[in-house]
Amino acid sequence: MATTAAQRAQRSEGGYRPEAAGEPSAGPRRAYVETYGCQMNISDGELMEGILAGAGYELAPRPEDADVILINTCAIREHAEQRVLGRVGQLQALRNERPDILIGVTGCMAQRLGDTLFEQAPYVDLVVGPDGYRDLPQRLAQAHGGRSARTRPKSRGLQLTVLELDPRENYEGLEQRHTGRTAAWIPIQRGCDHRCTFCIVPYVRGPEKNRRPADVLEEVTRLADGGLTEVTLLGQTVNSYQAEGWSFPRLLRAVARVPGIRRVRFTSPHPNDVSEELIAAMAEESAVCEQLHLPLQSGSDRILKRMVRRYTVDRFLAIVEDVRAQVPDIALSTDVIVAFPGETEAEFEETLAVIRAVRFDDAFTYRYSPREGTPATRLPPEEFVPDSVGAARLERLIEVARAVQQEINETEVGRVEEVLVEREARTPGQLMGRTRRAKVVAFEASPERIGSYVHVRLTGTTGPTFAGQLVEGA
Ligand code: F3S
Repeated sequence: MATTAAQRAQRSEGGYRPEAAGEPSAGPRRAYVETYGCQMNISDGELMEGILAGAGYELAPRPEDADVILINTCAIREHAEQRVLGRVGQLQALRNERPDILIGVTGCMAQRLGDTLFEQAPYVDLVVGPDGYRDLPQRLAQAHGGRSARTRPKSRGLQLTVLELDPRENYEGLEQRHTGRTAAWIPIQRGCDHRCTFCIVPYVRGPEKNRRPADVLEEVTRLADGGLTEVTLLGQTVNSYQAEGWSFPRLLRAVARVPGIRRVRFTSPHPNDVSEELIAAMAEESAVCEQLHLPLQSGSDRILKRMVRRYTVDRFLAIVEDVRAQVPDIALSTDVIVAFPGETEAEFEETLAVIRAVRFDDAFTYRYSPREGTPATRLPPEEFVPDSVGAARLERLIEVARAVQQEINETEVGRVEEVLVEREARTPGQLMGRTRRAKVVAFEASPERIGSYVHVRLTGTTGPTFAGQLVEGA
């Protein structure tokens, strides 16, 4: 009988065994995982799906079809949490209809709020942080057992929390389910050793933990053997990776040389760890794409210092210059936070000036959101930028970043690019794909092209994306 890789891995690790967990044979068997947040969290969602599938669960396409519903959450901003709480609230209706379903909240918000989540959502059975997924099937069995033992049909039964941060847990030996048809996310690192004062991640994901290089390479090789040609290496500060004497540039080179791999990307690097060795690997390895996400966060040295980013604007600009000198066609993207406590109008203008000077191909822009427990929340209250000012700054930043993007993309109209075709577009008859420089292109072609590489002439741009025309035989 065929087994999934996750089952094989769990068995060899002496991991999940239903009989050992005391799981009832008629327990819940269909699971639905809904993920919010960053790529790392999406990757965690795939990890949970792999663990559950390996334990015999069927994966349901909708919560209505599932016996177990897991909402995998993000804690990065207040708004993200409110959205997820709203979504969890909607599930109460489902619970009222089908009292036997189990509802779990996982991920960063689960870690941050812990069992206070039960007060906000009393129908939640399970709260599991990012280091608690290895034993998910056993926990579900426990929660299910607690529910079966309840005496009154509407009593809450057992509510479980799994919130311990484990400085060694990097899910070695387990395998995530890769759901992408054309590309895969490969987590190589979990947690974060930096302490940017605005960021909740180190508190909800713990310290940096790196996977063994051999395990990463084995996973990439297996995916390439299965026909995938593009991988993105993932980590909170991916380029600070160090394991068994391997640096990130060494791992990047090795992944880029796995037979069958045509495109390698990585996200998110920290500017301080963009070394000469890394830039050389990007320039020399043909599979490494001409694309770099380099989070700026602010264009003011004083604010960068308050954020504890540990670089100056000049240093950041020097990195950009070095990268562009060696990888001339590189597409750069960034993250920027406006209205950090104490940011003056002049400091905000400095950020706009850096955006104009660097000319990022893409910018992910945010207004500062205080996260309880992070150092920035302890800055003097009078320094917090009023909401109306923050909103206005964000609007201006978006305007400037979009104008730069539009200008850059207009100069690229006419280029013929190699595109990996990812999916059908919303417009009938059109497909969507991505260039090596991560630019999104829509063009007419038949769906059999999905998963293949084609050449497309860029014929127009809407600003962020392109329209194109298939170039046969290029
Ligand atoms: Fe990602 Fe949000 Fe957690 S951005 S690391 S899911 S706080």
